[in-house]
Amino acid sequence: MTNNYKALLESFKLPNGATLPNRIAMSPMLVLASTAEGEITEEDLSYFDKRSQVAGMLITGAASVSKGGRGAEKQINVSTDEIIPGLKKLAETMKKDGNKAILQLHHAGREAIAAYESYGQVVAPSAIDFPFLPYTPKELSHEEILTIIKEFGEATERAIKAGFDGVEIHGANHYLIQQFFSSYSNTREDEWAAHLRSG
Ligand SMILES: Cc1cc2nc3c(=O)[nH]c(=O)nc-3n(C[C@H](O)[C@H](O)[C@H](O)COP(=O)(O)O)c2cc1C
Repeated sequence: MTNNYKALLESFKLPNGATLPNRIAMSPMLVLASTAEGEITEEDLSYFDKRSQVAGMLITGAASVSKGGRGAEKQINVSTDEIIPGLKKLAETMKKDGNKAILQLHHAGREAIAAYESYGQVVAPSAIDFPFLPYTPKELSHEEILTIIKEFGEATERAIKAGFDGVEIHGANHYLIQQFFSSYSNTREDEWAAHLRSG
C-alpha cells in the first residue's frame, strides 16, 4: 500500500469519543440467512466471522424493527426481546477483532413483502396504488406512526443490551423513512406530510 492510503489504516476518534481502529467501514448488506422468524443463525454468525478483519466498523444488513415492516423472509427481526441472546452472539462475532459493531434498523413500509405474505397487508405514508407493487398499502394513522417510532427506540435498546456499539437508521432505498420524505410516496396533508419532512 502506498503512503497515499496509509491514513485509511490509522485509528480515528469520533466526536462522541469512540475510537475506530481504522477508517474503513463495511456497508450494510442483507445476509438473508436468519430463520423465517428472523432469528440469528450460525450462517449469520459465520458471515461476520469471515469478515471480522475487513473493516474497523462492521454494519449488519437491515434488521426489521417491526413484524409489519419485514421486507424479506430470513431478514433479522429485532422486534421482540427473544432476539437478544442471538444478537449478543452476533455483536460478539462482529467485535472479536476489535471492530465496532453497528446494527442497521429498518422498516420496509410499502416494500414489506414478507409482512404482506404473512398478514395480507402492508403500511405506507399514503395508500397509493403503484404499478410496481401487487397490492395497495394501507395509509398509516398518526398513532401507528408513533408506534413505529417507538419500535425503532425499542430495537435500539435491544441493540445496546446485546452489546452493539451503535445503530444505523435505514432512511434510504425507498423504504419507510424515505417514503415519508418523498412527495411521490407521501401525499398526506397532516403533520407527517412530505413537504414538512424534506426541510
Ligand atoms: C446484496 C446486497 C445487500 C444490501 N443490503 C443493504 C442493506 O441491508 N441496507 C443498506 O442500507 N444497503 C444495502 N445494500 C447497499 C450497500 O450497502 C451499498 O450501499 C451499495 O451496494 C453501494 O455500494 P457499492 O457501490 O460498493 O456496491 C446492499 C447491497 C447489496 C449488494
